[in-house]
Amino acid sequence: MTIIAHISDTHFDGTARALDRVRRTMAYLRGCDIDVILVTGDLADHGDVKEYDQVKAELVADIPVLMLPGNHDDRAAYRKILLDSDGSEPVNQLKSAGGLLFALCDSTIPGEDEGLLAPETLTWLRTVLADAEEPVFVGLHHHPIRLNNPLLDSIRLRNPEDLAAVLRASSAARAVFCGHAHAAAAGTFAGLPLIAAPGIFSTTRLPWTTTDQLGWVNTFDREDVPGVVFHVVEDGELTSHFRSITG
Ligand SMILES: [Fe+2]
Ligand SMILES: [Fe+2]
Repeated sequence: MTIIAHISDTHFDGTARALDRVRRTMAYLRGCDIDVILVTGDLADHGDVKEYDQVKAELVADIPVLMLPGNHDDRAAYRKILLDSDGSEPVNQLKSAGGLLFALCDSTIPGEDEGLLAPETLTWLRTVLADAEEPVFVGLHHHPIRLNNPLLDSIRLRNPEDLAAVLRASSAARAVFCGHAHAAAAGTFAGLPLIAAPGIFSTTRLPWTTTDQLGWVNTFDREDVPGVVFHVVEDGELTSHFRSITG
């Protein structure tokens, strides 16, 4: 059995508030008997080097902590601080942890909030899936399906059909994990489970839970507690458990 703790959207912005929410989350996770932590993007809020210094200092555990970039991240700063490398090409990473493979895709478009998997990323993922001998879990920041929040859906993945074609061409992929929506949600995509992690920094309000007209200024609930999804993989089966971090 492998247990993946899936969190997202830490948005380190230099404030005590962001830092406190991450520290509470990581303290909770360090007390859990789990195998790997996955953070699906928007690690930093502005993509500043100082924010990545905090990412590097705080998102640590004695188990692997896997990360990928989101639209608030900056590829150059991300590479410099987190990967000790240069370059502005997509940050695509293949990681092995807990007997599973994680294909972590960069779905960002520099300077834009919407997502896109570039041709080189799709080619990379196709090769990873073709070569894989273990189950592969695909991670990306942007949700490839509608998650029923019109604002967040307006900046979802722009080319989901390209991702679906790559996933359908292989039997190696078992699920797709994303962030960006700041909302715990589950669906299906290309015949696979699609799970969006809740946001550490804030939670998006669902349109039908309020009579307010939701815009960018009031769609993010900053009072809601952070959350985590525990993905349990056993005998090829996936079960996902959603928990709030109230402590
Ligand atoms: Fe975010
Ligand atoms: Fe995002």
